[in-house]
This record gives sequence, C-alpha cells and structure tokens, in this order.
Amino acid sequence: MIHIKTQVGIIGAGPSGMVLANWLRKHGIDAAIIELRSREYVEGRVRAGLVEQNTKDILKELGLDARMKKEGIVHDGVYLSFDEERVHIPFGELTGGRTITIYGQQEITKDLTDAWLQEGGELHFETRATKIVDFDTKRPKIHFEKDGEEGILECDFVAACDGFHGIGRKTLPKKSFQSYDITYPFSWLGILANVEPSTDELIYAYHENGFALHSLRSETVSRLYVQVDNDESVDNWSDDRIWSELSKRLATPGWELKEGPIVEKGITPMRSHMIDSLRSGRLLLAGDAAHIVPPTGGKGMNLAIADVKHMVDAFVAYYKTNSETLLDTYTNDALRRIWRAQDFSNFMTKLFHKQDAHGSFTYRLQKAKFDYLKVSRAYKTTIAENYVGLPFESFKN
Ligand code: FAD
Ligand code: PHB
Repeated sequence: MIHIKTQVGIIGAGPSGMVLANWLRKHGIDAAIIELRSREYVEGRVRAGLVEQNTKDILKELGLDARMKKEGIVHDGVYLSFDEERVHIPFGELTGGRTITIYGQQEITKDLTDAWLQEGGELHFETRATKIVDFDTKRPKIHFEKDGEEGILECDFVAACDGFHGIGRKTLPKKSFQSYDITYPFSWLGILANVEPSTDELIYAYHENGFALHSLRSETVSRLYVQVDNDESVDNWSDDRIWSELSKRLATPGWELKEGPIVEKGITPMRSHMIDSLRSGRLLLAGDAAHIVPPTGGKGMNLAIADVKHMVDAFVAYYKTNSETLLDTYTNDALRRIWRAQDFSNFMTKLFHKQDAHGSFTYRLQKAKFDYLKVSRAYKTTIAENYVGLPFESFKN
C-alpha cells in the first residue's frame, strides 16, 4: 500500500490540474497530482489552441509563459464568414488592447508539467484515482491504483481536475446539484495538416454545406475543422474530400486555401454540459469535470483555468487567514463566468452551424445576425469582448 500525504490532492494533470499545482506552490501550499494517462499521452493529445487574455495573464504571473511568448502567435482579430462574405472583428480596437494567442494546449501542459517536476513536485502518471472518501471531514482521501498496487492520498482538500470522464463529478452527492445538457445534432471533423496557414487570423464560416473553421498551430502547421453528422466516420472522409469541402466552405472572392499532407484526423461531438455546484465539503471541481462547452468559442481550456483562479483564491484565504469565505463562494464566483461562456459558445455554435435547410427561418435568423454585425460596432464589440474573455473584475457581483 502506497501512502501519500499533502495539503491539496489533485486528480488530473490537464491544464486545470497543472495550473492549480504550480499556482499553489507559488503560495507555499503543498500539492500532489494523480494522472491516469502516461506523460507522452497527455503531452501528445491535440486539443485546444486558443489562449484568452486572462489565461495569458495567469501564465505570466506564474512566470511560465516564456515559451508561449516565443512560439505562440498573437492574434488581434478574427474573421467571420457567412455565405462566402467575410467580416473582420478587430479585438484590440474594440476591447482596449486585449488579444488571444494561438499556442497548443498540450504545449501549455508540457510547460507546466516541466516546471512542476523540475522543482521536485509530486506527480504520478499512469495512476488511476478510484474513489474519493471522507470529503465531509477535515481529512479527505483519494484511493488510487498504480502499477497494480493500491494507494491512499490523504489531504485537506481534493481538487477534481479530472475532465468530463473523471470521478470528481460522479462523487458529488446527487442531490447537491442540478445538471443541464444539450447535445447538438452535428460534430466536428478536425485535421492537423503540414501546410502554411492560408490566413493570418482564424476564420469561422457558415456555408450551405455546413460550418468550417480555419485555425493554425504555427507558420507551417494548420488546424482546420468541418461540420459533419453525428454518425460520421473519418473513414468516409478522404483527404481530397476534406480539402474540397474546406475550400468551398471557407471561400471568399480572391482567396484560396493551401492544401498539404494531413497528419491527424478526429471527430469531436458537440455538447453543452453544466452542473450548478462545484463543491461538496472538501471536494472541489474545476474545468471539464464540471462543464463542457461546444468548442466554437474556444472557451473550454480557458474556463478550466479561470475556475482554478477562484480555487487558488479560496485555498490561499484558507491557509493564510483561516477564512472559509471564499471556499463558500467558490461555486458562485466560478459559475458567473461559466454561464457567460456557455451562452457565448452556444451563440457562436448556432450562428455558424448549418441547423436547418438553407433558406429556412433558422437560416434567415442566422443571416440577420450576420448582416447586423457587419454594420454594428456594438455587436462586433459584444463578440470581441466575449471572444478574448471578459476580465475577472467584470464578474464581481
Ligand atoms: P482535461 O484536459 O480533460 O484533463 C483531465 C485529466 O484528468 C486528463 O489528463 C485525464 O487523463 C485525467 N483523469 C481522468 N480521470 C482520472 C482518474 N480517475 N484518475 C486520474 N486521472 C484522471 N478549449 C479552449 O479553451 N480553446 C480551444 O481552442 C479549444 N479547442 C478544442 C478543440 C477540440 C477538438 C476539443 C476536443 C476541445 C477543445 N477545447 C478548447 C476544450 C479543452 O481542450 C478542454 O476544455 C480542456 O482540456 C479542459 O481541461 P481540464 O484540465 O479541465 O480537463
Ligand atoms: C483550435 O485551434 O483548435 C481551435 C481554435 C478555435 C476554436 C476551436 C478550436 O474555437
């Protein structure tokens, strides 16, 4: 039997778990992390790429933004396209200088993991948390399995940063929260391709064939997505078919999409999921463990890290001043931003995905929104400030 003792026991070494661990260390609070997957798996998992201003500020405050500053690509705007007509939303001008940076989630996780391990932080890969117990007492425990051996991590608080399929949410007492779910009738087929991006900033497009998104990872690597049916298989999508659909859906007069070798293909379902309590006793949830947003607003990772900010504030208040006030307000402090992001992600999803026949009432409402944003600075500003992420101060009551 392995026995570990710490102050905050963290389940999950994704962005939320790793930001939490590094931030707690900065305040002199001990933490230990348990991660189900191998280090190679976590660091190779291609997911988010859009880093909001708040997330950049947090990584800077932690002194962990050096590689992101060097290798990340700052975007001062985004292109929105509808029926082949493209509009530019300039972030800096509309939000007082706030921007986003394109830098892979797995690169952030790698930087945070390196920093944590370099200074001797405790992190157990390929270790499965199996049970969380005694979280209604002052000494909760995480039971785990590592290399066939059982273990117990004893701590003051459990931070479940263990994603949508983790055990944190399943452990919360059923009666302590309400859940909300939307499953959208479409998915994203995402590709990573070794080709120079055909755009300087992201393009989100509505087309009668369906949604498309042109994102990127570097000057030589592009990341693109097309809307597909929920029962689609990647086997039905040859490279030629993918490029041909992307060229049609992202088209605008005078613009051409560059093609290149596709090195990864995958299908992601689109859903919104939410619970309205992130804490029970000494068990606190953050990130995808508590909420999923459809990726159309690029919010998932950023929200996960925003939850952690409130969690760190609560732990620091507890350990430094013996106050439980911020633990008590943790759920509500985090929920305000989460609902805002749920709404924005739902809005972007509905604006740019094909939901009904081209020319239908739903289509005409989508087009009316797009036509309005073309002429309204106020509407553009609403999109810009949500896209780059509202400052933490905006959510104080
Ligand atoms: P996760 O990253 O899921 O980490 C949870 C960790 O817990 C995992 O490593 C898992 O292995 C571990 N774990 C689970 N169960 C256990 C257990 N029992 N024991 C031990 N460990 C366990 N977000 C954005 O902000 N911007 C984007 O541009 C964006 N694009 C996306 C594109 C796609 C295609 C997808 C799929 C997602 C995208 N997201 C985006 C969402 C983003 O990737 C997630 O919101 C983010 O990973 C959440 O981080 P997390 O730390 O909460 O959870
Ligand atoms: C990505 O780069 O993977 C990405 C960017 C923006 C999104 C979703 C995904 O909205």
